[in-house]
Amino acid sequence: MEIAYFDHNATTRVDDAVLEAMLPYFQRQFGNASSRHTYGINARRAIDHARKQVADAVGVQPIQVIFTSGGSEANNLFIRGAADSLKPGNVFISAIEHPCILKPAQALSRRNCDAWVLHQLAMDAQGQVDLAAASAAMHAHKPGLVSVMLANNETGVIQEVAKIAEMARAHGAYVHTDAIQGLGKITVDFPALKVHAMTLSAHKIYGPKGAAALIVDKRLLLKPLIYGGGHENGLRSGTENVPAIVGFGVACELAVLRLAESAQHVSRLRDRLETGLLGMGAVIFGKKAARIPNTCYFALPDIEGDTLVVKLDKAGFAVAAGAACSSVNPGQSHVLAAMQVDPMLARCAVRISLGSSNTVEEIEDFLRTAQHIVTELKRTSSLCL
Ligand SMILES: Cc1ncc(COP(=O)(O)O)c(C=O)c1O
Repeated sequence: MEIAYFDHNATTRVDDAVLEAMLPYFQRQFGNASSRHTYGINARRAIDHARKQVADAVGVQPIQVIFTSGGSEANNLFIRGAADSLKPGNVFISAIEHPCILKPAQALSRRNCDAWVLHQLAMDAQGQVDLAAASAAMHAHKPGLVSVMLANNETGVIQEVAKIAEMARAHGAYVHTDAIQGLGKITVDFPALKVHAMTLSAHKIYGPKGAAALIVDKRLLLKPLIYGGGHENGLRSGTENVPAIVGFGVACELAVLRLAESAQHVSRLRDRLETGLLGMGAVIFGKKAARIPNTCYFALPDIEGDTLVVKLDKAGFAVAAGAACSSVNPGQSHVLAAMQVDPMLARCAVRISLGSSNTVEEIEDFLRTAQHIVTELKRTSSLCL
């Protein structure tokens, strides 16, 4: 049975053009980019080309791109690397950040000698940072480091990053945004976001797993997490993953080229999906806020999210209950908790994140199937909350 894939915020299928560009670098062009011979020179050229493709996609110079092994590493590099180059002070993150921002920020606040004070920016009921509260908190506690994601992986809600960055910069802070869920879905322009650093990851944009980047302002002081041969301007040692970096470059180029068409396609599908879900009595989280066009995070009251996900999978639809990235750590979504969603309703949360391959037929099938499952679950009410 073909399973309709509705979980693009978790990861995406590698695009054919991306795979084709990567393949030579596994075998024919397998060189180490640090080598001086032709194999090495070809690998270095391929990395330089990919660096330019990534840089062009977000409006920066190639020198501002630091390749890492994933978005998690890039986020850790900012939090820990920037903190280590500053005097300890106040670190502000939004309450809905991905665990790879939240955990290193918590670790900074637990240090013995040079501990930082961690502040979580409050969210409103639609899942956006409360700007007035953020401004007051930053006046009360001068920020040194700030990180606020561009689009949330669960709700898809877009944050006013440039406004928050301006606020934080006025206090002299270094500001970062995790733009992983924004790239390929909305315009991501580094200068316009007014941040000092930004994270991107290849596998959310039809590129391979294991390639990502921290984009940095040239003035940002950063200490590396990984020391060694001094790769990536000394900020990320380790032999470069050439095939993955090449794939990341192509994926970035395609993400920008296809942005308008793809955003229009998924937003049409999402509109149809949400009309159908609302007709079934669903609550849609963050619906009144600006959202990336592919994401629908909903709850059908009294139908447990995990139960619905398993039933839908058996019926041929891959959807997520909350954040796939934290499914090793089940429990209530910290994003919905920050939005003050009733915990009983939060247990019913299911996320659908659409991509370029999804079709209107899949959405219609999904709505019919979901209605059928819901009717069945309600009839055998032991399976409901
Ligand atoms: C918003 C966000 N940040 C960070 C990550 C982690 O990125 P990666 O899987 O490349 O480590 C993810 C996805 O898992 C994400 O959605």
